[in-house]
Amino acid sequence: MQTRKIGPLTVSAIGLGCMGMAGTAGQAAMYGPVDRAEAIATIHHALDIGINFFDTAEIYGPFANEELVAEALAGRRHQAVIATKFGFRIENGRVAGVNSQPAHTREVCEASLKRLNTDVIDLFYQHRVDPAVPIEDVVGTLADLVKEGKIRAIGLSECSAATLRRACAVAPIAALQSEWSLWERDVESEIAPTARELGVTFVPYSPLGRGFLTGSVPRAEDLPDGDYRKADPRYQGENYDANMAAVAVVKSIATAHSASPAQVAIAWLLAKGPDVVPIPGCKRRTTLIDTAGAAALHLTADDIAALDTALPQTAGLRYGSKAALAMTRL
Ligand SMILES: NC(=O)c1ccc[n+]([C@@H]2O[C@H](COP(=O)([O-])OP(=O)(O)OC[C@H]3O[C@@H](n4cnc5c(N)ncnc54)[C@H](OP(=O)(O)O)[C@@H]3O)[C@@H](O)[C@H]2O)c1
Repeated sequence: MQTRKIGPLTVSAIGLGCMGMAGTAGQAAMYGPVDRAEAIATIHHALDIGINFFDTAEIYGPFANEELVAEALAGRRHQAVIATKFGFRIENGRVAGVNSQPAHTREVCEASLKRLNTDVIDLFYQHRVDPAVPIEDVVGTLADLVKEGKIRAIGLSECSAATLRRACAVAPIAALQSEWSLWERDVESEIAPTARELGVTFVPYSPLGRGFLTGSVPRAEDLPDGDYRKADPRYQGENYDANMAAVAVVKSIATAHSASPAQVAIAWLLAKGPDVVPIPGCKRRTTLIDTAGAAALHLTADDIAALDTALPQTAGLRYGSKAALAMTRL
């Protein structure tokens, strides 16, 4: 697979999001049931086909997802680029707020190093902006961790263009990870252009719209209990039908290329520029193999124009109306 740059790191053009793999047996899965052995086999297969960029976070599980990634990478750590994230206050296994205080950031870094069974984290992201800690202080702490050899590169997630600019004035920011896909286009007006101007690689998360853009996810009422998407307004009722209209465009372009809808959705992001590295979430080898084929799919200018206008207005709020914390880009 072709490679792209994230600051000092060389990564495969397509990474692997590991969040949906959860980590602990019996744990409620975000996107359907998890087979732990299959999830680990998926990470092994990713390495075998040249995908070296793995995305996890302290909060996934919490904690157990980092351990799963470490278990899968045992003996092959040198082949992998590991990205993880800090920045939440976790109480009784749940997010209880944000916390990017310097001491907490250092504690989480040490704990993640241990869980990941490594002596350096390749890319350490602040998961959400903490309004109580100026971004200059957060990046100052992270720059110290780089100097100490605990992390290789600094990332931010879901911040505003103004925060990214302030952060870049303190130390090099290698990556911005925020939601970007055919149905989540908000970042295109200001945030993605700012990242490009500042030399920050954009890492689009949920690039398949949590599976929706593949056309294979049923409407909310038909999803099993515990599936995170059951409460996502975009999967419900009329919203589902309206959003499926865009998937019809994706499917028709896929058919013309003998490709899959997932490949088209990822190829559209790859075509945005060499400084874009999507991280689709695949917890099974079949979906990984299919999605990885996007790296070899070349969309025409007409395809891209059709995709750009396929869904001018996504029906339903991102994350739902209650999740203000996750929605607001500070
Ligand atoms: N920074 C943040 O705040 C943040 C937030 C959310 C996610 N993330 C990161 O971004 C990664 C990706 O996002 P995501 O997992 O939310 O959503 P996603 O990549 O948009 O979609 C994942 C879903 O798509 C399905 N899928 C993948 N390839 C497919 C294919 N070829 N055909 C049919 N279905 C396919 C997966 O199925 P299977 O799982 O069954 O393979 C899974 O249900 C996460 O794993 C996580 O690392 C970061």
